[in-house]
Amino acid sequence: MTDHRRENQRLWNEWSDDFQALWTADTDEGELPPAPSPFDPELPGGRQPALVRSVEGKAYAELGCGGGQGSVGTAELGAEPVVGVDFSGEQLAHARRLGDRYGVDAQFCKGDVTDLPLADDRFDVASSEAAFQMVEDLDAALAETHRILRDGGVFVLSVPHPLNESLDAETGRIERSYFGDGPRTITIDDSYESELVVFDRTVAELHDALVDAGFEVRRLVEHQRHEVEQHDPDDSDLPDVLWKVPQSVRFWAVAGGYE
Ligand SMILES: C[S@@+](CC[C@H](N)C(=O)[O-])C[C@H]1O[C@@H](n2cnc3c(N)ncnc32)[C@H](O)[C@@H]1O
Repeated sequence: MTDHRRENQRLWNEWSDDFQALWTADTDEGELPPAPSPFDPELPGGRQPALVRSVEGKAYAELGCGGGQGSVGTAELGAEPVVGVDFSGEQLAHARRLGDRYGVDAQFCKGDVTDLPLADDRFDVASSEAAFQMVEDLDAALAETHRILRDGGVFVLSVPHPLNESLDAETGRIERSYFGDGPRTITIDDSYESELVVFDRTVAELHDALVDAGFEVRRLVEHQRHEVEQHDPDDSDLPDVLWKVPQSVRFWAVAGGYE
């Protein structure tokens, strides 16, 4: 395991409880916390009809599943079997609790996205939300994703948008090159022993890595900050510019693709 990977794994085990508390912050007592699926057509950038009409009965894997929201939400839409993979034991414990609360049949297993503990050609659909930017060997992660998908299987890859990442969230100024310049370390909380290590990649680099791994990219969705729907940017403390650039980028890709 590389130092970067070990550092990220430690950080996620430290951060997990506080991170999952963000997911449940707006949940009333007795209510179920949110579990959005990337295949829910109601969500912004949700299911792309031409690619996945329904996930019902489809085998689904969530890579870097964290607290399992995507796995549970996709199981709720009828996918089966559903498997979430993450390298943080603490995150997986939250995922299992969420699955139990919803009463869905989702399995959660420990593993690294660059070396998945899953069989070849096993899945019809896979997704990863906000995880692959922490992976140093992106090509290995994409090769593994391609390996577990059947020919024609669909992969939805979402990462923070590199333009948003190049901005300082407090000043709104461009703080670093859009083109990335090696690993970047983020302090999540001074009380944590570990830091988060991320690898900034341009939209073109992400696209080309998917193509090189054997995917055909069919759609690319650039999401505005999700708060835009709920809050007036004028009432926000965030710098204006953060409302004007996409917060995340999501690729809809098909395994097989170009030879
Ligand atoms: C920002 S969280 C996102 C979790 C979930 N997808 C969500 O949207 O809330 C990133 C997750 O990726 C996991 N992760 C990061 N690098 C990983 C790797 N190389 N292998 C497996 N999991 C990884 C972390 O443990 C963490 O749970």
